[in-house]
Amino acid sequence: MSVEKRFISEELARLKAEGLYTNIRTIESAQGPWVTIEGRRRLNLCSNNYLGLCSDKRICDRARAMIDAFGVGPGAVRTIAGTLSLHVDLEKKLADFKGTEAAMAVQSGFCANLSAVPPLVGKGDLIFSDELNHASIIDACKLSGASILRYPHNSPSGLREVLESRKDDPCRKLVVTDGVFSMDGDIAPLPELVEAAEAYGAMIMVDDAHGEGVLGRGGRGIVDHFGLHGRVDVEVGTLSKAFGVVGGFISGTGELIDYLRQKARPNLFSSALTVPDIAANLASVEILQGSDDLVRRLWSNGKLFKELMKKNGFNIGHSETPITPVILGEASVAKAFSARLFEEGIFAQAIAFPTVPRGTARIRVMVSAAHEVADLEMAASVFATVGREMGLVPA
Ligand SMILES: Cc1ncc(COP(=O)(O)O)c(C=O)c1O
Repeated sequence: MSVEKRFISEELARLKAEGLYTNIRTIESAQGPWVTIEGRRRLNLCSNNYLGLCSDKRICDRARAMIDAFGVGPGAVRTIAGTLSLHVDLEKKLADFKGTEAAMAVQSGFCANLSAVPPLVGKGDLIFSDELNHASIIDACKLSGASILRYPHNSPSGLREVLESRKDDPCRKLVVTDGVFSMDGDIAPLPELVEAAEAYGAMIMVDDAHGEGVLGRGGRGIVDHFGLHGRVDVEVGTLSKAFGVVGGFISGTGELIDYLRQKARPNLFSSALTVPDIAANLASVEILQGSDDLVRRLWSNGKLFKELMKKNGFNIGHSETPITPVILGEASVAKAFSARLFEEGIFAQAIAFPTVPRGTARIRVMVSAAHEVADLEMAASVFATVGREMGLVPA
């Protein structure tokens, strides 16, 4: 390898030496509460398939039927090849679900953030961003060219302090936060953040990736959870977690969405979601609109698992949602823990720096509505066995 490219092998070696190199497992079955990996059946505790919809028969049937009617590919970007009526149907349904005037679907939640931020603020403007915001928000903010001011995590007073320090800047201002912080499961204090943004004339945007299907009436998300309809300028969502498919969307006023359709580069320069994606998402939203059974089951499973883990002496942080972080410390410890879990029948990946701060590496357990009580009892018992064996919880 040339001298110039040696940094690649050096960086890979460093990641491996520090226990930060990620090995990606190959799943040989559908995503579900149980999966097959290397020919072995394992309990799946790490997917964002909150409601178990990834392989729901109703969703798969709809995708198949729509392939027969519409084919598969979108042909090109929507502004060039037109937009299928299915895209329009999905956007109307999403807006209805979220209680907004309109919505625009894009290829992923990541793309939704890239679609939302740069059209709203640019060079000379200011973004006020929670210090623990998701990477896709951070990248969207950087891409916008605006100056980024971080405020302390989930701190409305911290946000007010930063807003106050720049109150005389005659530019556009955008406050941006995750709704649910996925590594800890805590919820943004959105009412207070909205009040701060309103007081200082800033726009506010929430990324509800882990709130949809989880918070609010029937999983309508964080804005619904806090009754803030009409007071949050931009809501970003993903279709790849609770909805069980793939894709992202932005919802808000009709004017905002009209504007983003003209300005958002993932909409202008990247092809739209495929037919099976859209059909499956349509079915998924309809399932959520029809019943809150899955959402209620998700919460009761989350509550049960947390109780069992607390009883076993684990540090499970301060999650306010079904997300259960099992905080273990160093990356190498979390990796060894994950490997032992795998041997004992559980697929639960370790998460370390840079996704979480150094020294707080963890197994982030994602409980799903599709898990049986017996699955969760088995999981808690295996965690306890491995935890005791590694001297991490009392014997
Ligand atoms: C807060 C947040 N926003 C956006 C995304 C990206 O969503 P997607 O996987 O649909 O690109 C994620 C995914 O991890 C997320 O946690």
